[in-house]
Amino acid sequence: MEKARRFADHVRQISQIYEKALATLSREAQPMDAVLIHSGSEGVYFGDDRHIYFEAFGHFNHWVPVNRPDQMLLFQPGKKPTYFQVVPPDFWYDQTVAQEAWWADQFDIIRLEKPEQVMDHLPATRRIVFLGENTGFAADMGLPAYLHNERNVLNYLDYYRGMKTEYEVEELREANRMAVAGHEAAKQAFLNFGSEWDIHQAFLSTNQMLETDSPYTNIIGLDEHAAILHYQYKQRAKGDQSRVLLIDAGCVSNRYCSDITRTYMREGGHEVFAGLLQGVDALELKLADMVEVGMPYRQLHEAAHDGILDLLISHELVSGNRDELAENQRVSKLFFPHGIGHLIGLQVHDVGGFFKDDHGALAPPPEEHRFLRLNREMQTGMVFTIEPGLYFIPVLLDPERNSALGKNLNWQLIDALIPYGGIRIEDNIWLSENGPVNLTR
Ligand code: GLY
Ligand code: MN
Ligand code: MN
Repeated sequence: MEKARRFADHVRQISQIYEKALATLSREAQPMDAVLIHSGSEGVYFGDDRHIYFEAFGHFNHWVPVNRPDQMLLFQPGKKPTYFQVVPPDFWYDQTVAQEAWWADQFDIIRLEKPEQVMDHLPATRRIVFLGENTGFAADMGLPAYLHNERNVLNYLDYYRGMKTEYEVEELREANRMAVAGHEAAKQAFLNFGSEWDIHQAFLSTNQMLETDSPYTNIIGLDEHAAILHYQYKQRAKGDQSRVLLIDAGCVSNRYCSDITRTYMREGGHEVFAGLLQGVDALELKLADMVEVGMPYRQLHEAAHDGILDLLISHELVSGNRDELAENQRVSKLFFPHGIGHLIGLQVHDVGGFFKDDHGALAPPPEEHRFLRLNREMQTGMVFTIEPGLYFIPVLLDPERNSALGKNLNWQLIDALIPYGGIRIEDNIWLSENGPVNLTR
């Protein structure tokens, strides 16, 4: 089976990364023989006995596609990795772990009833790096505190999570395929005058999803709600007066996420908005084509600001000297106030966005683009989003109504477009050996 081959290759590649991390980061004063990754512990809300929905730690899911608390993976150089599958005897919850040969064959699986039974199976030296949130558990297992989430190891692993194996790319492709089908159903629900709630249900039911199956809370905004970047509610009122839908929604395949945004305007809407919609879509495709190995991702963000400014000028929302308007992106930032994208993988905003190298040297976002979530040079294997937007956001625009800068803005047109909310177009892009590949289209 092709999937089994891809997964075997994935495990071989990440084993090499772990092996190299231990070999290069172990020091005489701090030897490290193995890594134990804990998926996490289940928590409850404060003062309550109700469980918080559990999401396993990404580095655990990098090995094992199981979303369950208290699962563990032990990596020892030169050995087949061990998966400690903790299955408590229980009659309150179904604790069975659905296991499939395509992934399970890559591990020695030891089934335990309680997590602490892992003690009997750990290397006697206890020079084990523990990765996971529950460091109290690690201490109980006798693992030394200085190796709990050892920073250098974690940085190294985060850095390499940025480059995806063939298995991961195929899972991301599948998560995209699922979401694209959901988006098509959502679009139809909008065209049929559905409410935000109706559109949300249309997206979920296409893939028989529960809300907890989503990689993030669906953003489904009609009209002005499209201008609230992470709009989190779903109005039940019918959409028979609606003009615009902005939907940002994704799916998950074996823990790998997609993150896709589409914007639609009903026929008969403002022609400038229609032009902007077409313009942002074309800009997104152009940016995706620009990506190449060695290019700083930041450059894409700056190109997006140039493209947004061009759209604002050509649609007469803004007038004046282009160079002055472009200075510090102060005009385009009023309409495009977020980053152009982020790494995507096991987490929708995947780890590893801010590294200069695998030694942990940081590349934080530049001061002028503090919302940018990816500030690395592009490398083969990276999967990331490209998501330009153009919004009419009163909170950002209103303070400029009487400012010097505001003299360059066409307020009459802006006021006519505020009821349309805004536009975002977001695809997931894989930088393959042969250049960028759009996994969404
Ligand atoms: N869905 C959140 C984002 O686009 O980053
Ligand atoms: Mn998104
Ligand atoms: Mn995104």
